Amino acid sequence: MQDLQTLESEIAANIKAATDLEQLEVIRIAELGKKGRVSLLMRELGKMSPDEKKEFGPKLNQLKNSLNDAVQDRKNSLEEEVLNIKLKSESVDISLSVVTKGQGSIHPISQVMDEVTEIFTEMGYSVAEGPEIEEDFYNFTALNIPEEHPARQMHDTFYFPEDEDGKRKVLRTHTSPVQIRTMMDGEPPYRIIAPGRTYRNDSDATHTPMFHQVEALVIDKDIHMGHLKWCIEEFCRKFFEIDNVKIRFRPSYFPFTEPSAEVDIGCSFKDGEVLIGEGDDWLEIMGCGMVNERVLENVNIDPSEYQGFAFGMGLDRIAMLKWGIPDLRDFFAADLRWLKHYGFQALDIPSLSTRSSSIKGSK
Ligand code: PHE
Repeated sequence: MQDLQTLESEIAANIKAATDLEQLEVIRIAELGKKGRVSLLMRELGKMSPDEKKEFGPKLNQLKNSLNDAVQDRKNSLEEEVLNIKLKSESVDISLSVVTKGQGSIHPISQVMDEVTEIFTEMGYSVAEGPEIEEDFYNFTALNIPEEHPARQMHDTFYFPEDEDGKRKVLRTHTSPVQIRTMMDGEPPYRIIAPGRTYRNDSDATHTPMFHQVEALVIDKDIHMGHLKWCIEEFCRKFFEIDNVKIRFRPSYFPFTEPSAEVDIGCSFKDGEVLIGEGDDWLEIMGCGMVNERVLENVNIDPSEYQGFAFGMGLDRIAMLKWGIPDLRDFFAADLRWLKHYGFQALDIPSLSTRSSSIKGSK
């Protein structure tokens, strides 16, 4: 019988030398296939004496196994090579920027949010948050708007389908539910603002179904309407960078404030631009008032000890005014040309201390 060791190393060398999967398969069939050299040797076992069988049987088996292993190893490494070549040819250099120079910009709403936050935090307010998918209780009931209250109709609410316990969640129609969440969570005094998205089923040049508000809530001892008025006037002066902005407080009604008012800013709509501080038009920018005693009672605050004010301001509206953008719907149309015109460069990060005093829309 042929020297098994020599045979093994000869075949193993062939296997190792195979340069692709097809060649390897040819070698495997020639050596280990049914009619291969190793199988023929196995067949010879039948003609051997029992003693010879005892000696060669295990050796042949071992030879077969180790060669099969060698084929498998070579197969694995050849497959890996193929995969690597494929990966290399298909790779995408994700470090390559697809944004051409100067395209990224800050949306005017983000800019407004940052500026508003900066102005109010400087006055001592902190920032609170609440969910956009809100429970009826926080959006309405706790704010003194019980079911069947006509004020519910005014909100053009987007309702969710009923959940298991028959309750319908809503897309919050204002940021006022954050007032309730804040007061249920802590102890007075409170001085917070809550900027965020709000939703109503309404769409025209000054309304979009999704819009932005910032809520403010101040609860302390001896707070009165004068504090509210000062805060709003001070805010407008800083935000619009105009010393004598025309502001008008109009008596109004909200179930959660008493007394209530709406605030309008003097402006004019001229040649496709809104100009602030000029003309005889008015744009409503917020609702406000002294927090209704009923609301305080709903959140276990004693109205004889604590009072306060609240307001909810439309951020999109004040952005329109500040930069002379006449149609609110353009804010969310994602038109690059619009963003290029009204957007802010990433590096002119809004800041009271560093911002330029130019008003974009009126340039
Ligand atoms: N939540 C009111 C609205 O969206 C605004 C408001 C807030 C009014 C706080 C009074 C006090 O219309």
